[in-house]
Amino acid sequence: MSFASVYADWQSDPENFWMAASEKIDWDQKPTRALTTRPDGLFEWFSDGHVNTCWNAVDRHVLQGRGQQVAIIYDSPITGAQSQITYAELRDRVAKLAGALQSRGIRSGDRVIIYMPMIPQALEAMLACTRIGAIHSVVFGGFAANELAVRIDDCKPDAILSASCGIEPSGVVAYKPLLDHAIEIAEHKVKFCVMLQRDQSPADLLTERDIDWQDFVRDAEPANCLPVPGSHPAYILYTSGTTGAPKGVVRPTGGHLVALNWTMKNIYNVEPGEVFWAASDVGWVVGHSYICYAPLIYGNTTIVFEGKPVGTPDAATFWRVIADHQVSCFFTAPTAIRAVKREDPDGTLIDQFDLSCLRALFLAGERADPDTIEWAMSCLKVPVVDHWWQTETGYAIAANPLGIEKLPVKIGSPGVPMPGFDVQILDHDGKTLGADQLGAIAIKLPLPPGTLSTLWNATDRYQSSYLDAFDGYYETGDSGLTDADGNLFIMARTDDVINVAGHRLSTGALEEVLAAHTSVAECAVVGVADQLKGQIPIGFLCLNANADLSHETIIQEVIQLVRDKIGPVAAFKQAVVVDRLPKTRSGKILRSTIARIADNQDFKMPATIDDPKSLDEIKRALETIGYPQTK
Ligand code: COA
Ligand code: AMP
Repeated sequence: MSFASVYADWQSDPENFWMAASEKIDWDQKPTRALTTRPDGLFEWFSDGHVNTCWNAVDRHVLQGRGQQVAIIYDSPITGAQSQITYAELRDRVAKLAGALQSRGIRSGDRVIIYMPMIPQALEAMLACTRIGAIHSVVFGGFAANELAVRIDDCKPDAILSASCGIEPSGVVAYKPLLDHAIEIAEHKVKFCVMLQRDQSPADLLTERDIDWQDFVRDAEPANCLPVPGSHPAYILYTSGTTGAPKGVVRPTGGHLVALNWTMKNIYNVEPGEVFWAASDVGWVVGHSYICYAPLIYGNTTIVFEGKPVGTPDAATFWRVIADHQVSCFFTAPTAIRAVKREDPDGTLIDQFDLSCLRALFLAGERADPDTIEWAMSCLKVPVVDHWWQTETGYAIAANPLGIEKLPVKIGSPGVPMPGFDVQILDHDGKTLGADQLGAIAIKLPLPPGTLSTLWNATDRYQSSYLDAFDGYYETGDSGLTDADGNLFIMARTDDVINVAGHRLSTGALEEVLAAHTSVAECAVVGVADQLKGQIPIGFLCLNANADLSHETIIQEVIQLVRDKIGPVAAFKQAVVVDRLPKTRSGKILRSTIARIADNQDFKMPATIDDPKSLDEIKRALETIGYPQTK
């Protein structure tokens, strides 16, 4: 069947398309319909069905004869550890952890935060929550205590599951002090924390609040899978918006199962039993969907990789893992491939491994630059598929559906919209633009199953962030165009979100931190192009007249403040002092003009600029830190 006919099938009868896809899921009570429009105008999928995520990701495979198949391979070049967990073992471990949570009072609908490094227990924690209907919220380990506290106050968890430390190339990162500090500054008080002790740096468990993971599960009664309605939230995942307050994306259970299962064959072209590897982190949406849920729902073997593309120990790590574990399909961010390419430009390390098992490389999380795609294609000699998605959607909006039909590749485009997504390019007034015309990328409502249903405790914000701009559409926040063949091209964000090494960051949140420094009167943070990370943030500071510290001291202090308040993941390492910021006459800071100057791109002097000379000053300040960069 051609992709065009599959897409047309969906377009002509979405209800039937998704009901057919739902047949692949084990329901405790089958849904009678796919889509429901609620009285408030929001949409729900499979809401009258009853289902359990963990059952579909674990138990049913044991029942169907996959008990001895490896479910999770743990490969940790940073510690030297390797291990494997079969589906039968995974079921037993998860059931006990879920039982322990239940015995401490965790019930369906309660929230549990998971703050863990890349170890198999992170997946077990996620599955244990969904087993009993608890709603997990995983927080990335590279966030500082303050960010964790913000999430604690927003989702109000009863429990936190964590580990004593994470391990970075720069050394051991003790999680417990971060966790203690977050709990201390959060207003909401969690009832208990379960701490997995790691040999590299065990934590002191001082109060009754903290329980050792092993003690917690030792005598626990295994819990059964609890069916929940299709619209029950499986998890909340926070992502950056335009302000400092992160947005809690709510993922509903039924649609999540149906859609992720559909993608495994149709987009990634894998079969149950094969090894699927997404080198990301469970703290990000890619980790949720393609390290944990989708491969397990589909009966694959997934890999939990605790390492980096380079330096653990070298730029051959990815290829060693693929060969050692016979990976069929590999998924990572372009920045990771750029890091490898930088150290091994001729791909000589690749030739040391037999990668005949590998059938495709998928890239997402940021724009994939043509150099990176071409390098990967020529070195790996497999299709390299750029695909476009967001935390909000949970899976690809546009891709090349290798399992249906390999479409002609247009380098620079992440492919064509997948079934479920009616993508339109709109002008300011919401009018649909034709081929090759640049505009806002919007998706016609309803969004398909598995995408966000709302923002946690913030339906008004969901409405204003995504639905208000264009009547009847979801606004993606990206701008771009579609060519005459229907290929999408993603050009830039339309908001103040930047993308650093595949991680989404809010410049607004960074500015809030800089503005809190006593010497800073006003500031702007701008994302500038970076050859490795795609973009990096640079801060522009206007100081108070009475600021009595040296510029160097203030810059060092604001850099440290960002590290302490947001975390090392922000990669905020550069700031400059300026007398004034370029603004429009109405006072809006001209961030995109600053970015264009830093990136050495042509720009038009904004007609509304208040003082054109302020741009000269920005140029001079950028020169002091080496911008624009020469290749
Ligand atoms: N816990 C604690 N700290 C963490 C962390 C974690 N889980 N993850 C990252 N950090 C820290 C790092 O140690 C680093 O700290 P430093 O400033 O003290 O060096 C900082 O956060 C930035 O980390 P990172 O983004 O890893 O940058 P890097 O320069 O060390 O490495 C890359 C560059 C490209 C190798 C790396 O960014 C990478 O692997 N990117 C892939 C991203 C990805 O998979 N994204 C998923 C989206 S699909
Ligand atoms: P996140 O929610 O962190 O996954 O970030 C989503 C954003 O990353 C998107 O809105 C895009 O701006 C960007 N993005 C993700 N994948 C791609 C891609 N393949 N091409 C271009 N931009 C991408």
